[in-house]
Amino acid sequence: MMNKSIEQKLHATLEQRKKDGNFRKITSVNSIDFCSNDYLGLTQLPLAPNRAASGSTGSRLISGHSQELANLEKDIAKFHGYETALLFSSGYAANSGLLACIAGSEDAILSDTLIHASLIDGIRLSYAHKERFAHNDMRALKAKLEHLASTINGQIYVVIESIYSMDGDEAPLQAICDLCRTYGAALIVDEAHAIGVYGSEGQGLVSSLNLEAQVSACVITFGKAVGFHGAAILGSSTLHNFLINFCRPFIFTTAPSPQTVQDTKAAYARFTSANTAREQLSSVLGAFTAIIKCQT
Ligand SMILES: Cc1ncc(COP(=O)(O)O)c(C=O)c1O
Repeated sequence: MMNKSIEQKLHATLEQRKKDGNFRKITSVNSIDFCSNDYLGLTQLPLAPNRAASGSTGSRLISGHSQELANLEKDIAKFHGYETALLFSSGYAANSGLLACIAGSEDAILSDTLIHASLIDGIRLSYAHKERFAHNDMRALKAKLEHLASTINGQIYVVIESIYSMDGDEAPLQAICDLCRTYGAALIVDEAHAIGVYGSEGQGLVSSLNLEAQVSACVITFGKAVGFHGAAILGSSTLHNFLINFCRPFIFTTAPSPQTVQDTKAAYARFTSANTAREQLSSVLGAFTAIIKCQT
């Protein structure tokens, strides 16, 4: 689910694109190959026995899509409580691509001062008006939202991490959702450091607080608790279509190989069933937090 005003805004942009005859869809190609980049036909040969094909042959919009990839995205979306998931080669590509394309020149992006470099770089690429608020400071966020709501004609986006990579602290997610709702802002959350740590099966902080409906786009990465590499953007089907049409690191890059798709699936299965490791982490975290509290 998504903030209604951005749902309408993205939907209108997509409808215009359809009218212009430029709407992009991802479909699997099962015919003679006149379009891929697999010039020597090597992608279909596994690099080692008992492994899947080594290459995807091209961008997902041209020849790199597959049913296995679609199924994997469906499973990941369902696990995290979202309608859709779109895979990216890394968290850096997902964050920078999302922020660069989602807001236009009439919109504003308001971000926490401690967000990751990949989000910062995406914001730099955006044409939107940009502002920052002091880290986890709800008074500062409210004041900036109040000001922007009365000065900006377009959509306001708030960008945060749920658990911060810099200090390891947690965002007051419920309070931020409440403020976003009050001012009609859309919330984007990077859950890179929260998945695997929060939620009964490691779904993340957004899901463990049942806030999926209030977070318009959620970025998860596979290079941390999942123990692999890659990333996904979770959101509504409108966001999914919008990214397929406008997100440049998704469009202009080679799709993951069949072997990578299989390995991502296996890494996710291992990650979601790692109950003992999660319990161990939780007890170590509890002990560490108690020590820190005693010392302050
Ligand atoms: C909060 C956060 N977001 C995104 C990323 C980037 O993820 P990836 O390593 O998959 O590019 C990182 C990696 O350090 C991170 O800490």
